[in-house]
Amino acid sequence: MTKKYQVLTGMHDLTDPEIKKWQLIEKTAREIFRNYSYEEIRTPLLESTELFVRGIGEDTGVVSKEMYSFLDKGEDSVTLRPEGTASVVRSVINQNLFRHKPQSKLFYMGPMFRYERPQKGRLRQFHQIGCEVFGSSSAYADIEAIAVADQLFKKLKIKNYQLKINSLGLIEERKKYLEELKKYLKPHQDLMDEDDQKRLLKNPLRVLDSKNEKLQEILNQAPKLLDHLSEDSKIHWQEVLKGLDELGIKYEIDTRIVRGLDYYVRTAFEFTSNDLGSQSAFAGGGRYDGLIEELGGPKSSAVGFAIGMERLVMLLDDNLSLDSSPIYLAYSGDSIKLEAFKLCQKLRDQNHEIHFSLDDKSLKAQLKQADKFGCSKVLILGEQELQKDSITIKDLKTGKQEEVLVSDLEDKLTL
Ligand code: HAM
Repeated sequence: MTKKYQVLTGMHDLTDPEIKKWQLIEKTAREIFRNYSYEEIRTPLLESTELFVRGIGEDTGVVSKEMYSFLDKGEDSVTLRPEGTASVVRSVINQNLFRHKPQSKLFYMGPMFRYERPQKGRLRQFHQIGCEVFGSSSAYADIEAIAVADQLFKKLKIKNYQLKINSLGLIEERKKYLEELKKYLKPHQDLMDEDDQKRLLKNPLRVLDSKNEKLQEILNQAPKLLDHLSEDSKIHWQEVLKGLDELGIKYEIDTRIVRGLDYYVRTAFEFTSNDLGSQSAFAGGGRYDGLIEELGGPKSSAVGFAIGMERLVMLLDDNLSLDSSPIYLAYSGDSIKLEAFKLCQKLRDQNHEIHFSLDDKSLKAQLKQADKFGCSKVLILGEQELQKDSITIKDLKTGKQEEVLVSDLEDKLTL
């Protein structure tokens, strides 16, 4: 027997009907991005490995464990992008965008790859909708980025979600705090697993993100970075919170939001939902002013976020209007098929979604198919109708039937 191939672990085919939810999210996101004057950017899925090592940070879980990296045929180490930010920064530096367009807002949609242990809401190929705003150090940029995400979730009628927000200060002001945190955590080292012990040495901030049950109470009582902010960072933080208050965006200050990527400074945030189980964050982002310089660009500011599509889809109400009411065009008799086919073309040209049986089928079989495709209406063209230049419209929900002139059909369908 010929071997059947399976989709790789942690990867999925996206098919109907679920894909309709993806399309709705993408369409709504595009509209919102347009309203906030964002432009789309599409970067390659493959980049040099070094870009992510430098951009995301060598000691992060993403870089140290999760990257799909390999040598290409030219012996160069390349990596399937695990996130979008580093690639977008590389691209804007390459385009010299900082000179031409000192402030720019970009969005992207597409697959990302992380070799993680798959579970509900955690995949190896997952998809993000993300955006990056360059050139503004103002708190208004942080507020607006959060507002974009929040508006999208509200438009999609997502219920039961929280915005968790923190300030990570600037790298300089973090140094003293990290020493204090290390001192506080050291006596509890024996409760930590191997990964947390390593983090304690290299990047103690990340221990705050630990899910280890035994550490939770200790971490809740840990010294807080918010108490160690410089005057400027404090003002920035207060401005962000005031802006959110003014826009009516609810938030929860969570001093344990540290994010899994190294580039963040000042504002860091996550959108979470208890409906998602353990992988509760369905979007995350923050400010990352230093990254542009770190990747060879000029000194500049940036803020952005990314939404995990798979997780957002899980939160979408099944009853949300999926913006599709296909119509089935049925014909009774082979001699009518060509006329019906021509009418199909005309209706599609008028922007209607039409199902049509390419293979010869009885009228009964076509009606069955219409039901299967979830069509709202069936148009029936038979010998009689053809003679009169008319067509029968059957409403599949009510069962009601009426005969109309083909010339009136367009008006009837758009009612
Ligand atoms: P991140 O928090 O690593 O941030 O990812 C953003 C979102 O992607 C997460 O909140 C989650 O919903 C989704 N996600 C991450 N990993 C997986 C996975 N293995 N399976 C399914 N979903 C996943 C970033 O990637 C930053 N680049 C966001 C950003 C943009 N910060 C500034 N600009």
